[in-house]
Amino acid sequence: MADTRVRIMKDGPIKVETDGTLKITDHDGTVVPHREGRAVFLCRCGGSKTKPFCDGTHSKIGFAGAEAAVTAADSSE
Ligand code: FES
Repeated sequence: MADTRVRIMKDGPIKVETDGTLKITDHDGTVVPHREGRAVFLCRCGGSKTKPFCDGTHSKIGFAGAEAAVTAADSSE
């Protein structure tokens, strides 16, 4: 069984890497091609010109990820 890891990068993309095959599809199920055997970085800032992939724009627009805020909100419940 393949090991797949998903990592939310600080103020940046979501990194997905697997020891197996990674299949990315759009909302219609159409396969989104990507380079095999490499980590994939998915944009979560909305600014990439190569969506769904990160193109580095997050650093130019000063994107601030919300994961720290979510963690803080969860701990106050
Ligand atoms: S997260 Fe990198 S361009 Fe959006």
